[in-house]
Amino acid sequence: MRVGILGSGLMGGKLGTIFARAGHDVVFSYSRSKEKLNRLAREAGKTARAGTPAEAAQDADALLLAVHWSRVDDVLKQAGNLSGKVIVSCTLPMNADDTALVVAHTSSGAEKLAKKVPKARVVSAFGTVPSEVLFGVFAARRKARKPSLVYCGDESKSKKIAAELIHDVGFDPVDAGPLRIARYTEPFTLLIAQLAYEGDGGPELAYRFERFA
Ligand SMILES: NC(=O)c1ccc[n+]([C@@H]2O[C@H](COP(=O)([O-])OP(=O)(O)OC[C@H]3O[C@@H](n4cnc5c(N)ncnc54)[C@H](OP(=O)(O)O)[C@@H]3O)[C@@H](O)[C@H]2O)c1
Repeated sequence: MRVGILGSGLMGGKLGTIFARAGHDVVFSYSRSKEKLNRLAREAGKTARAGTPAEAAQDADALLLAVHWSRVDDVLKQAGNLSGKVIVSCTLPMNADDTALVVAHTSSGAEKLAKKVPKARVVSAFGTVPSEVLFGVFAARRKARKPSLVYCGDESKSKKIAAELIHDVGFDPVDAGPLRIARYTEPFTLLIAQLAYEGDGGPELAYRFERFA
């Protein structure tokens, strides 16, 4: 697939690298440093390149949205017309200092995103996993027992694309249902982050928590 990365930080940088190593054509975009995008593309291999958000979106079979909530409007504006595009979002609706969800309970960041781009097809995925474990999951992808990863969305074709990407990273994709299920997965992610960054066990503990949940 052609995968556009909108936001090439901890999540976008790692997932884009993994998608490229799994054989997808990847365009890294949206960083304050063009050199960083070039470096990511170089390190990800022959099927990756750096570009603008509009270039990442053009001809993309899937877009990974991986920016802070405060940057969503900006990156969507730069990406241009997203009609019909599959947007796989790991973006969480966090406040400026990342201490609380600004959308919760009766809606979710994923649903708000879908309202911002009504002609795109939004799937919520990868948000529940700490970026630190992604390369380890990819390295162990051929093992029989894969960790599971939940995703949700309202449309079957885009969910199939998301499930393929999730599988390629090394997870067993678990369909959690329609997009509104993100109301439960997004707060769940805060628990995962709490375990990963403030508990004793670090990201590995959080990752095991999801695997066994
Ligand atoms: N990190 C995790 O473990 C994790 C796990 C689950 C979900 N999430 C969610 O995933 C999303 C992305 O998280 P992250 O940790 O990957 O964030 P991050 O490392 O801060 O990456 C965000 C990307 O946006 C870019 N950016 C920020 N401001 C910009 C601007 N003004 N112009 C252009 N580019 C700009 C950053 O550029 P630079 O390259 O210049 O920094 C970076 O490439 C967030 O919504 C987060 O809540 C993260």
